[in-house]
Amino acid sequence: MNVETRLHHYHPAAKTFHWLVAALVFFVWPLGFLLDLVKSGVHNDFLFWHASLGFTVFWLMLARLCVRFLTETPAKPSGMPAWLSGTAYLNQWLLYLALISQPLIGFLLVSASKGMFTWFGIIPIPSPIGKSPAVAHTLAEIHQFLAWTILVLIGLHICGALYHRVIRKDDTLARMT
Ligand code: HEM
Repeated sequence: MNVETRLHHYHPAAKTFHWLVAALVFFVWPLGFLLDLVKSGVHNDFLFWHASLGFTVFWLMLARLCVRFLTETPAKPSGMPAWLSGTAYLNQWLLYLALISQPLIGFLLVSASKGMFTWFGIIPIPSPIGKSPAVAHTLAEIHQFLAWTILVLIGLHICGALYHRVIRKDDTLARMT
């Protein structure tokens, strides 16, 4: 990779993690939303995929965070009002925070309600908390709140990308592709 490419694009690992997480959340979110709406026979299958793919997001986000700190971030587009670039920056970090804490809460929720979460039915993940319906109830409420928060943050993130692409016609989106 030449110097020119490095300055104008995110690191290939950052791009890979970004689009992998985006694709996973695209499936994980609706699977979670449908959990309470599907028949009980299908519920367990939906939960299996929701929880296992969701927990994968946790590891990918940790890896992404490492890449973010270890690689150079391309320069921000020039001429942006400070409040707008500040909002975009805040939104980005809230997304990191939400997409790391949401799978963790989900994992604790399954542990508190079912006793043990087994990733893809293969790897048992030991939990610091035991089975407790009361704790599970609270965690379910936090998980639901975070789910809608993530939807709003992603919506704003997409609006920002479209604003750059369609209105400002700059290369912000291209830096991640
Ligand atoms: C990025 C990761 C995740 C996202 C975006 C996500 C999103 C969601 C959404 C949208 C719902 C439905 C909320 C509602 O009814 O309003 C949900 C429910 C649920 N999720 Fe997740 N989730 C994630 C990770 C996980 C993980 C890793 C687990 C378990 C290991 C998990 C377990 C559950 C459970 C058990 C429910 C049902 C909660 C209830 O009883 O209402 N989630 N999730």
